[in-house]
Amino acid sequence: MSSKVTTTILSAPTRSLPAPALVQSRSRYSTTRAIGLLAAVAVLCLFANYTTRHCWFTHPHKFDRHDTDALVNICPQVPPLVPQQNFDIWESLGTTYDSAVFKAKAVSWLAGAVQVPTESYDYFGSPGTDSRWGKFHAFHAYLRKAFALAHAELEMTTVNTYGLIFVWTGSNEGLKPLLLAAHQDVVPVEPTTVDKWIHPPFSGHYDGTYIWGRGSCDDKSGLIGIMSAIETLLANGYRPTRTVVLAFGFDEESSGMHGAGTLAAKLEEMFGQNGYAMIVDEGPGYGEQYGRIIATPGIAEKGSVDVRIEVTTPGGHSSLPPPHTTIGILAELLVKIEANPFKAQLARNSPTYKMFQCLAAHAPDLPEQLQKVILASAYSDEALRTAEDTLFTNLAFKNLVRTTQAIDIVQGGVKVNALPEQAWAVVNHRISTESSIAAIEARDTDLLSPLASKFNLTYTAFGKTVDHGDNVDTFPAYGNLTLSKAFGKNGLEPTPTAPFEGDDAVPYQILSGSIKAAFNRHRRIEGNDDAIVVSPGIMSGNTDMKFYWKLTPHIFRYQHISSKDGGAFPANNIHTVNEAMSIDNFLEVIHFYTTLILNVDESALP
Ligand SMILES: *[C@@H]1O[C@H](CO)[C@@H](O)[C@H](O)[C@H]1NC(C)=O
Ligand SMILES: *[C@@H]1O[C@H](CO)[C@@H](O)[C@H](O)[C@H]1NC(C)=O
Repeated sequence: MSSKVTTTILSAPTRSLPAPALVQSRSRYSTTRAIGLLAAVAVLCLFANYTTRHCWFTHPHKFDRHDTDALVNICPQVPPLVPQQNFDIWESLGTTYDSAVFKAKAVSWLAGAVQVPTESYDYFGSPGTDSRWGKFHAFHAYLRKAFALAHAELEMTTVNTYGLIFVWTGSNEGLKPLLLAAHQDVVPVEPTTVDKWIHPPFSGHYDGTYIWGRGSCDDKSGLIGIMSAIETLLANGYRPTRTVVLAFGFDEESSGMHGAGTLAAKLEEMFGQNGYAMIVDEGPGYGEQYGRIIATPGIAEKGSVDVRIEVTTPGGHSSLPPPHTTIGILAELLVKIEANPFKAQLARNSPTYKMFQCLAAHAPDLPEQLQKVILASAYSDEALRTAEDTLFTNLAFKNLVRTTQAIDIVQGGVKVNALPEQAWAVVNHRISTESSIAAIEARDTDLLSPLASKFNLTYTAFGKTVDHGDNVDTFPAYGNLTLSKAFGKNGLEPTPTAPFEGDDAVPYQILSGSIKAAFNRHRRIEGNDDAIVVSPGIMSGNTDMKFYWKLTPHIFRYQHISSKDGGAFPANNIHTVNEAMSIDNFLEVIHFYTTLILNVDESALP
């Protein structure tokens, strides 16, 4: 994307909102100019008795947290983006969404969707061979009934029987479509927990505040939110200029292979590689963090790989045991792994670092000392290390940044009087956005090498024999140590990071502005551009987006859902008992999708 695009979209005279002061100046300033300016201020700070508040970056300890001027370029914000060409429909739908009649309709749309169970399980076979997917037909029938206009106007394609694509063709087919994604399936309800639900998990019970049930948040609020926005736009006579595409997978909760895995190829066939303006799928929402409401759209996902560690040794009768059985050896290997966690390191260009910078710039209750070191860490390595020390006392933060390891499965031995011939374990790694599968494989291989040597094991890691300096010539190998990818799965590399600053960040800015406009309009907030702040975030888990990389670099994982605790993912009891969605928040979700569709529609994106 050229800088021309940025300038056009952000300075178009008809658009009231784009933060001209902030964003335009960013795109106009060359790097050299910016460095020059910094240098000039630094010189002033050093040689003139300049007010300390302008010298925070040379004297971080004198930084004034109330100096908003100094913070403007850290985690820059765009103002709320209110549709201009589409202003009338946006305004009138805002009134509609506030009405009791619409509220009742929204309740019935979401509750009805919850009432159709769509649990997906890891062990389901492919749709062609496993009839248990059949229940998704009932969900499709529900969608047809609930969203009749959308079904009449949008072109629907089914992929691999249960995957759904809707195309809402715009009047200008030269524009790249907006792709909105969601998934139809829900995580299963654990049978032993059914009686812990206040209202049965598939009741869709509405108590005047909440709609209860499995999927009410994850992710039927997304799917039904999108459909509700489109149905209402259609009912009010709106037709898009830019094509809108919807893609609904059906096994996101169990790998996504059958659903998004096959939808991706079809979506690519339809509009081509890099053929979409931007994608918004489920992801983190917004919540209060250190005294500030912050939305954290996921701009990247960590990777993952499952490593299987297998030890084999000769069996025999357990009355004549060797000093270490297979299980004992495996145990020592596992202890070694846990004793060596991956180092957490904040890379300055990482999404997580940017997230901390946003906190420092915008969260008033962030401890002042921490704020200072985060701000200073932009140029001081020492401050960066201090920031790490402080931030990583929070294990959740630490795990978001680093590659993690969790020994999740272990197996070995068959009988109490037989020496185990084989024992194995699987370690689940979630890979840092700064690392790769190859780096993780190399680390695990090296880490266990001394133990392979100690126990005289022939060592094979990921298909290659590892020379660990053993002397098998004199002492024949006692057994084998084999590292491999578990379950024949290749693992997932961390995703590319969606552009969120600079000339290429227009889709991110449109998303940010839409989040703010929907948030403010829903609460009737006026004249406060930062009632909600938008910060880049990352996903610690994976979504259907792992299959969609080729479609566009601008992939955002975001749901306009309020999280009670400001955690990484909406905390409305997703994946556990008593999942519930407040109707107030659901109306805001619909408002968000409406705003996003209208804003992307009239944007100058290619
Ligand atoms: C180790 O692996 C080799 C090669 O696959 C095999 O011949 C041998 O029997 C294995 N040793 C044990 C103790 O399983
Ligand atoms: C492994 O080899 C060493 C010599 O390198 C020998 O002392 C030791 O007994 C062997 N251990 C096993 C378990 O075979």
